[in-house]
Order: sequence, then C-alpha cells, then structure tokens
Amino acid sequence: MAEIHPNEIVIVKSEQSKINAVDFSNLTFGRVFTDHMFVCDFEDGKWRSPKIMPYQALTIEPSARVFHYGQAVFEGMKAYKDDNGKIFMFRPDENYRRINISAARLAMPEFPESYFFDGLETLLKLDSAWIKPGVGNSLYIRPFVIATEPAISASPAATYRFIIICSPAKAYYNDPVRVLFAEKFSRSADGGVGFAKAAGNYAAQFYPTSLAQQKGFQQIIWTDASTHEYLEEAGTMNIFFRVGDKLITAPNNDRILDGVTRKSVIQLAEDLGITCEVRRVSVKEIKDAANNGSLKEIFGAGTAAVISPVSAFEHSGDVYEMPNIEHSYASLFKKTLMDIQHNLSEDRHEWRYEVL
Ligand code: COI
Repeated sequence: MAEIHPNEIVIVKSEQSKINAVDFSNLTFGRVFTDHMFVCDFEDGKWRSPKIMPYQALTIEPSARVFHYGQAVFEGMKAYKDDNGKIFMFRPDENYRRINISAARLAMPEFPESYFFDGLETLLKLDSAWIKPGVGNSLYIRPFVIATEPAISASPAATYRFIIICSPAKAYYNDPVRVLFAEKFSRSADGGVGFAKAAGNYAAQFYPTSLAQQKGFQQIIWTDASTHEYLEEAGTMNIFFRVGDKLITAPNNDRILDGVTRKSVIQLAEDLGITCEVRRVSVKEIKDAANNGSLKEIFGAGTAAVISPVSAFEHSGDVYEMPNIEHSYASLFKKTLMDIQHNLSEDRHEWRYEVL
C-alpha cells in the first residue's frame, strides 16, 4: 500500500523482510541488500517522484545512455548504530557535495539536497534493523545516478534516475593488501575525470588490477599518468605513507578522488599531533625509505576500506615487504575514526550526523 510521507516521498513497504535469511557474522562486501531502495527520476528538467520501494530489479531500455556511454556517478557512505540504537552517518554532507561535483563533470543534473537527505534518512529508518550495533558493523550506502534516456547519440541524456541501495557490511579487505606501483597503465589524467566518482573510473581499473592479481597483488597504487613517478591513489582508497613518524599523502588534484576518509585522517593526524605532509610523493622517495628502513607503514583510507594496511609493494620487479609495526598509525587512525563513527568518543569536528 502506498502512503504519502510528509516530505512527499511515496513509501511502498516490502511485504516480507529478507533479513532472517542473512548471516550477519559472515558478510562478503556488497552482496546482500536491504529490503528497500530510494528512487527518484529527472524528467522535463526536474527531479520528481521520490519514492521508497522494495529492493527490486529495474526496467530500463537497452538504449539508455548509461549502457553505451557510462554516464553514471555514485557515492559510498556508511551508517552506524550505537549501543542505544541511535543511527549515525559520517559526514554525509561531504558525499552530497561530491556526488554533485561528479555529476557536473559528467554533464548530469544536480540532485536537490532535501531529497538526498530525506531519502537517505527515511530509507535508513525503514531498514534500521539491518544496521547492527558494534564496532566493525556498518550499513554501506550506495547512492548513484544513471542516464536513462533511451537514445544512443553521444550526448548527455535528458532523463536520469537517482537510486540509493544499502548493504550490511563488515571489512572490505580482511587482510593487509599487497600492491603494485603502476608503471604502465593509468587510472586518470590531467583534465580528466579522476576526481569524480564516475563509474568508468572503476571499470577502467579492472583489467590492470586483474593482471596485478595474477602476480599476487590485490591492488594497484596508481601513479601520475605522464611520468609514473608520483604515487597518487589506490583506486578503492586514498593512500598514506609513514616515513619515520611523519605521514605523507598526495594532494588533491583533478586525477585524485577527494576522499572523505582521507580528509578525516589528515584532520585526525593534526588532532593527534602527527605531522602529515600533503604533497607529491615520489616512487623513488618511498623506495629509498624502504631501503634505508625509514618506511614504517603504508595504508589506504576509504569509506568501504576504512583504514587498510599495505603489507608489501612491488615496483620494477622489486618486492618490498613492509615491517610489522606494533602501535601502527593504521590501527590508531582506524580506532580513532571508528570510535567517532560509532558514537564512542567525542565528535569535536561534528562529523557524526544523527538520523532522528
Ligand atoms: C567506497 O569506499 O565507498 C568506494 O566507493 C570504493 C568502492 C570500490 C567500494
């Protein structure tokens, strides 16, 4: 039965929840989805008809531009529940800002803030049982926009669909990752779309990453496309290097995703009195630091990956195994971040957003 929400979101509830069939202690990232999804369409120059409906397959014409030109952007966010049952998101304003930056780069219309937040909050309240309390549990939220207009001329679509789906999550990487430093392939280039969360940025990594995986490395750390001399990001996460007691991470530019976890780590480093240099970081510098013993850690930072340590890297055929560090920065940042996300510590920067 459809009912009208005060904020004009039409809600059609699923008749039966799928939740009892889910083993929450044994989740593979992104395989199980909650009972509902939020959907909103852009037609005649306006976003209209926001609704929440049971999670279901879409009917989209095969000529829709998303299938031909990849006109699609997305976000990754998480919701958490504390031990009192309160639900929080982490810096959702950053995701709202970024999805519209990504959309603008792909000539897609801006999504209204009120629909974004009302849609998210209504969906999270409806699927609240899927958010399990406890550090390490979260609900991964995937808002995305696709070009739906059935027309295959190579130009921006006139119609779009904005959708939010949610998936209960634990760790993205269960173990530290082994990475290759890119020497041939590139993820992004100057003036390109690397800063946007465009679907194609991820698809373009699949082939080089599969080659890396054949060699025993799970991820690639992408380097600048013109020289391959500077380390930029890992594709599923931004990347930090600890040399001595100092952290180094690449500055944002039009090739690198402006990661929410990345900027939170930079702020937390300042709070914790850890020097974090945001500057270009060269392959040579990191190899030299590995050779002279001053390279202590490499870790990735991302919404899905949270903080993921790197256990080894390869460049030009040389493999460097990272030392085992007690009291690592990776575990310090992970704990500090997760305590804030789960409402277990002071939130001095007002990053938590309570879903009321
Ligand atoms: C995220 O961390 O939210 C991402 O979008 C990365 C994706 C590969 C899961």
